[in-house]
Amino acid sequence: VKKIALLTGGGDCPGLNAVIRAVTRTAIMKYGYEVIGYKFGYRGLYNNETIPLTLETVSGILHRGGTILYSSNKDNLFDYAVEEDGKIVKKDVSDVAIENLKKEGVDVLVVIGGDGTLTSARDFARKGVNVIGVPKTIDNDLAATDLTFGFYSAVDVATEALDRLHTTAESHQRVMILEVMGRNAGWIALHAGIAGSADVILIPEIPYDINRIVQKIKERARMGKFFTNIVIAEGARPKDGEVVVSKIVEDSPDPVRLGGIGNKLARELEQLIDTHEIRSTVLGHTQRGGNTSTYDRILSTRFGVAAVELINEGKFGNMVCLKGDTISYENLEKVIGHIKTVDPNGHLVQVAKSIGISFGE
Ligand code: F6P
Repeated sequence: VKKIALLTGGGDCPGLNAVIRAVTRTAIMKYGYEVIGYKFGYRGLYNNETIPLTLETVSGILHRGGTILYSSNKDNLFDYAVEEDGKIVKKDVSDVAIENLKKEGVDVLVVIGGDGTLTSARDFARKGVNVIGVPKTIDNDLAATDLTFGFYSAVDVATEALDRLHTTAESHQRVMILEVMGRNAGWIALHAGIAGSADVILIPEIPYDINRIVQKIKERARMGKFFTNIVIAEGARPKDGEVVVSKIVEDSPDPVRLGGIGNKLARELEQLIDTHEIRSTVLGHTQRGGNTSTYDRILSTRFGVAAVELINEGKFGNMVCLKGDTISYENLEKVIGHIKTVDPNGHLVQVAKSIGISFGE
């Protein structure tokens, strides 16, 4: 191996720059490889938009969220929108990408992304490209790894938001609802809810009954606590009745991303409670921006170094992952499409229940 290339695909996430830095530094300093980056994810690979990655270009980026390589969403080169005779048609343009890699003299492609981006990585591996995957998402919903980088940074932001809502809720004796991200998994809500002392945690894995939430608010009032903090995952849904947001549909205008379920819950609670004012906050993309948490800086650095070690050992077609406290790897064929959600009977849910947090069951 002489030359490696990196790209970042899908939604951004704190820790991407830390991975880029760790891969680049290890590749150059330990193994003497040349490193380049493709800009804008797979789109840049198709358009051959490269930038050199050197010790200088990756200097000072460890803590910074976002990605110096930029990203693009849903750019699947195996089903890519191109213009032909004035019309937009979908085509498999993966051979153009493979040709570009050859022209650049790239021996290995390191792909940093979530499920969608890694699915294409697997498909390139199937076509004989030397690929290494690095798992990324704030949602922490990839089954092959115990943790994805970015998750704890998002949890930190959500926890801080709950801390801030706590004092204002108490002052005004209000019910505060905080909607957090997580797609179809409740990891961010569960962790932030415990860390930020929420009274109610609502997650997709445990459909809620609004009457139980009302009960909790009243119970707290009887105990002299005239405020309640609720954290709700964007994918959460009620037990019965209309499913507001049961799944995130990739290609439709997405109510989740516009802040759906938290505001709906607020409106419904308002009909059922006249003792408290209710306010709703949608945390949105603040969870993905800003600086990377210390935990994620370390995990990203471990993943980046491990990716280059796999390259050095010639173990292509794999994704680095965390198992317990050990960095390991898994074949890309096995990691795709396996989403990890919260176990409703799992330890953390039990811990939350033990300390009196309601899941609205
Ligand atoms: O997968 C990460 C994530 O931030 C989800 O939590 C959220 O549902 C989605 O991406 C938002 O996507 P976009 O940035 O395209 O609005």
